[in-house]
Amino acid sequence: MGSTTPCALVVMGVSGSGKSTIADRLAARLGWRFEDGDQFHPPANVAKMSAGHPLTDEDRWPWLQAIADEIDRACAAGERAVIACSALKRTYRDVLVHGRDDVRIVFLDGTQELIAARLAARKGHFMPSGLLASQFATLERPDAGERPITVSIDASVEEIVDDIVHQLNLVAQ
Ligand SMILES: Nc1ncnc2c1ncn2[C@@H]1O[C@H](COP(=O)(O)OP(=O)(O)OP(=O)(O)O)[C@@H](O)[C@H]1O
Ligand SMILES: [Mg+2]
Repeated sequence: MGSTTPCALVVMGVSGSGKSTIADRLAARLGWRFEDGDQFHPPANVAKMSAGHPLTDEDRWPWLQAIADEIDRACAAGERAVIACSALKRTYRDVLVHGRDDVRIVFLDGTQELIAARLAARKGHFMPSGLLASQFATLERPDAGERPITVSIDASVEEIVDDIVHQLNLVAQ
Protein backbone atom coordinates (compact mmCIF):
# COMPACT_ATOMS: atom_id res chain seq x y z
CA MET A 1 0.00 0.00 0.00
CA GLY A 2 1.16 3.53 -0.78
CA SER A 3 2.06 5.86 2.03
CA THR A 4 -0.54 8.51 1.19
CA THR A 5 -2.89 9.05 4.11
CA PRO A 6 -6.46 8.88 2.82
CA CYS A 7 -8.80 11.83 3.26
CA ALA A 8 -11.91 9.97 2.10
CA LEU A 9 -13.10 6.38 2.32
CA VAL A 10 -15.91 5.15 0.08
CA VAL A 11 -17.72 2.21 1.70
CA MET A 12 -19.28 0.21 -1.14
CA GLY A 13 -21.35 -2.92 -1.61
CA VAL A 14 -24.78 -4.19 -2.55
CA SER A 15 -27.92 -3.07 -0.76
CA GLY A 16 -27.99 -4.55 2.72
CA SER A 17 -24.26 -5.25 2.85
CA GLY A 18 -24.02 -2.78 5.74
CA LYS A 19 -22.68 0.39 4.10
CA SER A 20 -24.63 2.86 6.24
CA THR A 21 -24.01 0.89 9.44
CA ILE A 22 -20.30 0.31 8.87
CA ALA A 23 -19.50 3.74 7.41
CA ASP A 24 -21.19 5.42 10.36
CA ARG A 25 -19.31 3.34 12.95
CA LEU A 26 -16.02 3.63 11.06
CA ALA A 27 -16.40 7.41 10.93
CA ALA A 28 -17.13 7.51 14.66
CA ARG A 29 -14.07 5.34 15.36
CA LEU A 30 -11.78 7.54 13.28
CA GLY A 31 -13.32 10.84 14.33
CA TRP A 32 -14.17 11.52 10.66
CA ARG A 33 -17.42 12.78 9.17
CA PHE A 34 -19.97 10.28 7.90
CA GLU A 35 -21.89 11.01 4.70
CA ASP A 36 -24.56 8.88 3.10
CA GLY A 37 -24.12 9.01 -0.67
CA ASP A 38 -27.88 8.77 -1.17
CA GLN A 39 -28.17 12.36 0.05
CA PHE A 40 -26.39 13.61 -3.08
CA HIS A 41 -29.10 12.55 -5.52
CA PRO A 42 -30.50 15.47 -7.52
CA PRO A 43 -34.26 16.07 -7.01
CA ALA A 44 -35.06 14.44 -10.37
CA ASN A 45 -33.52 11.15 -9.20
CA VAL A 46 -35.35 11.29 -5.88
CA ALA A 47 -38.64 11.80 -7.71
CA LYS A 48 -37.90 8.92 -10.06
CA MET A 49 -36.98 6.53 -7.25
CA SER A 50 -40.03 7.59 -5.20
CA ALA A 51 -42.20 6.73 -8.18
CA GLY A 52 -40.64 3.26 -8.18
CA HIS A 53 -38.65 3.70 -11.41
CA PRO A 54 -35.11 2.35 -11.54
CA LEU A 55 -32.32 4.83 -12.28
CA THR A 56 -30.35 4.58 -15.49
CA ASP A 57 -26.60 5.17 -15.67
CA GLU A 58 -27.45 8.50 -17.34
CA ASP A 59 -29.30 9.46 -14.14
CA ARG A 60 -26.39 8.34 -11.99
CA TRP A 61 -23.59 10.46 -13.44
CA PRO A 62 -24.70 13.80 -11.87
CA TRP A 63 -25.22 12.01 -8.56
CA LEU A 64 -21.78 10.39 -8.60
CA GLN A 65 -20.21 13.66 -9.74
CA ALA A 66 -21.83 15.46 -6.79
CA ILE A 67 -20.23 12.95 -4.41
CA ALA A 68 -16.87 13.33 -6.18
CA ASP A 69 -17.16 17.12 -5.84
CA GLU A 70 -17.87 16.77 -2.12
CA ILE A 71 -14.83 14.49 -1.76
CA ASP A 72 -12.64 17.08 -3.52
CA ARG A 73 -14.06 19.91 -1.42
CA ALA A 74 -13.66 18.04 1.87
CA CYS A 75 -10.11 16.87 1.13
CA ALA A 76 -9.04 20.36 -0.01
CA ALA A 77 -10.47 21.81 3.21
CA GLY A 78 -8.44 19.35 5.29
CA GLU A 79 -11.54 17.44 6.33
CA ARG A 80 -11.83 13.66 6.52
CA ALA A 81 -14.94 11.76 5.46
CA VAL A 82 -16.36 8.27 5.24
CA ILE A 83 -18.97 8.00 2.49
CA ALA A 84 -21.47 5.17 2.07
CA CYS A 85 -22.17 4.60 -1.62
CA SER A 86 -23.08 1.37 -3.39
CA ALA A 87 -20.68 2.12 -6.30
CA LEU A 88 -21.36 -1.30 -7.81
CA LYS A 89 -19.66 -0.70 -11.16
CA ARG A 90 -16.07 0.16 -11.91
CA THR A 91 -17.17 3.17 -13.98
CA TYR A 92 -19.06 4.57 -10.96
CA ARG A 93 -16.03 4.15 -8.73
CA ASP A 94 -13.82 5.78 -11.31
CA VAL A 95 -15.99 8.93 -11.09
CA LEU A 96 -15.72 8.91 -7.29
CA VAL A 97 -11.99 8.21 -7.05
CA HIS A 98 -10.91 9.93 -10.31
CA GLY A 99 -7.30 8.90 -9.90
CA ARG A 100 -6.86 10.26 -6.37
CA ASP A 101 -4.62 8.03 -4.29
CA ASP A 102 -5.99 9.59 -1.10
CA VAL A 103 -9.49 8.24 -1.77
CA ARG A 104 -9.81 4.57 -0.86
CA ILE A 105 -12.52 2.03 -1.61
CA VAL A 106 -13.75 -0.21 1.21
CA PHE A 107 -15.60 -3.21 -0.22
CA LEU A 108 -18.12 -4.98 2.03
CA ASP A 109 -17.96 -8.58 0.85
CA GLY A 110 -20.68 -11.06 1.73
CA THR A 111 -22.87 -13.77 0.29
CA GLN A 112 -26.32 -13.16 -1.12
CA GLU A 113 -27.70 -15.56 1.49
CA LEU A 114 -26.26 -13.64 4.45
CA ILE A 115 -27.35 -10.26 3.07
CA ALA A 116 -30.85 -11.51 2.27
CA ALA A 117 -31.19 -12.59 5.90
CA ARG A 118 -30.06 -9.16 7.14
CA LEU A 119 -32.43 -7.37 4.77
CA ALA A 120 -35.33 -9.52 5.93
CA ALA A 121 -34.62 -8.44 9.50
CA ARG A 122 -34.07 -4.75 8.69
CA LYS A 123 -36.73 -2.46 10.11
CA GLY A 124 -38.36 0.37 8.24
CA HIS A 125 -37.20 -0.80 4.80
CA PHE A 126 -38.83 -2.96 2.22
CA MET A 127 -36.83 -4.63 -0.48
CA PRO A 128 -38.14 -7.25 -2.91
CA SER A 129 -35.75 -10.22 -3.10
CA GLY A 130 -35.39 -9.82 -6.89
CA LEU A 131 -33.74 -6.47 -6.27
CA LEU A 132 -30.94 -8.10 -4.27
CA ALA A 133 -30.34 -10.61 -7.07
CA SER A 134 -30.10 -7.74 -9.56
CA GLN A 135 -27.62 -5.95 -7.26
CA PHE A 136 -25.39 -9.04 -7.32
CA ALA A 137 -25.78 -9.26 -11.10
CA THR A 138 -24.65 -5.63 -11.43
CA LEU A 139 -21.82 -5.84 -8.88
CA GLU A 140 -18.33 -5.60 -10.34
CA ARG A 141 -16.02 -6.55 -7.50
CA PRO A 142 -13.16 -4.08 -7.24
CA ASP A 143 -9.98 -5.45 -8.77
CA ALA A 144 -6.48 -5.20 -7.33
CA GLY A 145 -5.70 -2.13 -9.43
CA GLU A 146 -8.28 -0.21 -7.42
CA ARG A 147 -6.38 -1.03 -4.21
CA PRO A 148 -9.60 -1.89 -2.36
CA ILE A 149 -9.82 -2.67 1.32
CA THR A 150 -11.96 -5.84 1.16
CA VAL A 151 -13.64 -7.00 4.36
CA SER A 152 -15.86 -9.97 5.09
CA ILE A 153 -19.19 -8.82 6.51
CA ASP A 154 -19.70 -12.17 8.22
CA ALA A 155 -18.65 -10.63 11.54
CA SER A 156 -19.92 -8.14 14.09
CA VAL A 157 -19.98 -4.44 13.20
CA GLU A 158 -17.10 -3.71 15.60
CA GLU A 159 -15.00 -6.57 14.17
CA ILE A 160 -15.58 -5.29 10.64
CA VAL A 161 -14.55 -1.77 11.66
CA ASP A 162 -11.43 -3.20 13.36
CA ASP A 163 -10.58 -5.09 10.18
CA ILE A 164 -10.86 -1.94 8.04
CA VAL A 165 -8.82 0.19 10.44
CA HIS A 166 -6.09 -2.47 10.56
CA GLN A 167 -5.96 -2.89 6.79
CA LEU A 168 -5.75 0.87 6.31
CA ASN A 169 -3.13 1.11 8.99
CA LEU A 170 -5.03 4.11 10.32
CA VAL A 171 -4.82 5.08 13.94
CA ALA A 172 -8.00 6.45 15.46
CA GLN A 173 -7.57 10.04 16.61
N1 LIG B 1 -22.11 -6.84 10.76
C1 LIG B 1 -23.43 -6.86 10.91
N2 LIG B 1 -24.00 -7.77 11.70
C2 LIG B 1 -25.35 -7.84 11.86
N3 LIG B 1 -26.22 -6.99 11.25
C3 LIG B 1 -25.70 -6.05 10.45
C4 LIG B 1 -24.30 -5.93 10.24
N4 LIG B 1 -24.08 -4.89 9.38
C5 LIG B 1 -25.30 -4.41 9.07
N5 LIG B 1 -26.28 -5.10 9.72
C6 LIG B 1 -27.74 -4.89 9.59
O1 LIG B 1 -28.06 -5.25 8.24
C7 LIG B 1 -29.04 -4.37 7.73
C8 LIG B 1 -28.48 -3.71 6.46
O2 LIG B 1 -27.45 -2.78 6.83
P1 LIG B 1 -27.39 -1.32 6.20
O3 LIG B 1 -28.75 -0.69 6.22
O4 LIG B 1 -26.29 -0.59 6.89
O5 LIG B 1 -26.99 -1.69 4.70
P2 LIG B 1 -26.77 -0.72 3.43
O6 LIG B 1 -25.68 -1.35 2.64
O7 LIG B 1 -26.59 0.67 3.89
O8 LIG B 1 -28.15 -0.90 2.62
P3 LIG B 1 -28.79 0.13 1.53
O9 LIG B 1 -27.97 0.01 0.29
O10 LIG B 1 -30.17 -0.44 1.30
O11 LIG B 1 -28.78 1.51 2.10
C9 LIG B 1 -29.38 -3.38 8.84
O12 LIG B 1 -30.55 -3.84 9.52
C10 LIG B 1 -28.17 -3.44 9.75
O13 LIG B 1 -28.50 -3.13 11.09
MG1 LIG C 1 -27.68 2.45 3.46
